[in-house]
Amino acid sequence: MPNPETVKTLGRALATVSLLFLVSHVKAQLPDAGRLALCAACHGSLGNSQIAAIPSLAGQPRVFLENQLVLIREGLRDIPPMKGILDNVKDPEIIQLATYFSSQTPAKVKGNIDGVKYQRGQDLSRKMLCGTCHLPDYAGRQQIPRLAGQQEVFLLYAMKQFRDHSGPGRDTIMSASLYGLKDNELDDISHFLANFKQD
Ligand code: HEC
Ligand code: HEC
Repeated sequence: MPNPETVKTLGRALATVSLLFLVSHVKAQLPDAGRLALCAACHGSLGNSQIAAIPSLAGQPRVFLENQLVLIREGLRDIPPMKGILDNVKDPEIIQLATYFSSQTPAKVKGNIDGVKYQRGQDLSRKMLCGTCHLPDYAGRQQIPRLAGQQEVFLLYAMKQFRDHSGPGRDTIMSASLYGLKDNELDDISHFLANFKQD
């Protein structure tokens, strides 16, 4: 008969090992395939949106995605088309979804670029110091979203929202950053960011 203390120690060791296994397993796990297919229906395959009003998720910073997914799930950021979609999605799966989309490669930009408009948008973005938070390549970091290559229509919509209705669930820092900018200026900035090319 093994000594009961030895059995207990062995049991504990086994439990620790299987917990470690579980943690690494969960982190490496892909989100549920059915759920991903649902996201893809709107946000595009691998998170590269083909729909003007719907943002791409590919290459967004993981922390930004995690934050937004929690805000959307809790109804603090109100997105009617996504209503109910994140009900019952627990934190570990939110982390998996955010990890998955942040590790996808943003699609190459292929819009028709209006050079004059692009230049005006670039000058404005520099003057307004957008790159101090969103980074000079507009790839974002931490809780600050990527803007480079984002859908142009969505960028304009999001900026008008920040400027005109700084509602709940969105950061007031953005309303301050856009204060006083006119519609045509936001339009130029959207064109520049959506088509951003490193110079
Ligand atoms: C029926 C369409 C639809 C489906 C399905 C959908 N979304 Fe969305 N999602 C949207 C729209 C539209 C917006 C932007 C709305 C806005 O800002 O008002 C959005 C915004 C987001 C945002 C914020 C992005 C940003 O840059 O601000 C995240 C994150 C997101 N969705 C993740 C997901 C995930 C993950 C799934 C799958 C579980 C999903 N969505 C399914 C329509 C959808
Ligand atoms: C002080 C830091 C800061 C500055 C400066 C700033 N931003 Fe932001 N921006 C943020 C943060 C943080 C968010 C995320 C907001 C949220 O979580 O609701 C954001 C969100 C956005 C979004 C929404 C993107 C999305 O996917 O949801 C757009 C568009 C945007 N910023 C454009 C700009 C532009 C254009 C400028 C310059 C005129 C600018 N920002 C300046 C911090 C900043």
